[in-house]
Amino acid sequence: MSEIDKLRAELKALSSEYAKIKTLPPEERGGFGKEINIKKQEILAKLARAEEEAENIDVAPIDISAPCAPNETIPKVKRGTKHPLMVELSRVVDVYASMGFNVMESRQLDDEFHMFDSLNFTKGHPARDGYDTFRTSEGFIPPAHTSTMQHRALKKYKEDLENGGQIAVVIPGRVFRNEDADATHEHTFYQCEGVFVSKDATMGQMFGVLKHFFEAYYGQALRIKTQPGYFPFTEPSAELLIEKPESLGGKGGDWLEMLGCGMIHPNVLKMAGINPEVYHGFAWGGGIDRLAMLKYGLNDVRYFESGKLEFLEEF
Ligand code: DAH
Repeated sequence: MSEIDKLRAELKALSSEYAKIKTLPPEERGGFGKEINIKKQEILAKLARAEEEAENIDVAPIDISAPCAPNETIPKVKRGTKHPLMVELSRVVDVYASMGFNVMESRQLDDEFHMFDSLNFTKGHPARDGYDTFRTSEGFIPPAHTSTMQHRALKKYKEDLENGGQIAVVIPGRVFRNEDADATHEHTFYQCEGVFVSKDATMGQMFGVLKHFFEAYYGQALRIKTQPGYFPFTEPSAELLIEKPESLGGKGGDWLEMLGCGMIHPNVLKMAGINPEVYHGFAWGGGIDRLAMLKYGLNDVRYFESGKLEFLEEF
């Protein structure tokens, strides 16, 4: 029996002594009661001490000077890295920001108006089919290009224009297309949109901005050329190509199509409440995946969304 149990048993036995008081002659009762009380106080004090000692036994003293080796006791955690496309996306945005462009965030669910109507795709326009858009059962559209943000960008910065300034904004974003994936097509990829509006914006300015962007991004002088394109939201429209530089495996004369661009269609400006008689603008949009593939010499776009760690860890 432990010390504590013994004391508790004594305490219990003592309580039956109280019952005896009544059986004693009145003159003895006081003395007897006093005696039991003293005994009881003694037992209680001993019990308290014994209980305190028992508690202390379990508490090991902490040695704060002991050497600590957390890596030996905690399993090693492998730290992740930023996805290569996110790294490239911030580099792209940084180049445009250094030229004075504002940055707006895109969204991953949009609607018919921003995907088509606001961009001058009239109802039933055949070009609507060219975008392989996904649709949710509620009729929303995961954007098939970052141009869905143009209308919002124009409206957001319209005041700057009216105050004598200009609109200069880039919008990176994730886009989705309902098409079969192969080495150069993926259902999910990233684009960066650019919008510029002022009283005297020209195509020449646009090519200057884009040439500077590509040279800053790839860190070297590059040759660019354009070819005609068609987009309902620009007039005229163009495609911009860059010559694959030798440092990235080019042999001279390898032209790569990098983005679509053009002068913003008057209807697009009008829909955002901007007078196309007074203001002019240019816009462009191109894939981030494509930029990164050229930079790193990748030949299959599907790696980016594959979740393959061996691939991702190379960056
Ligand atoms: N949104 C077009 C695409 O994904 C690219 C594009 C073309 C964007 C012309 C523009 C533009 O802003 O002006 O194919």
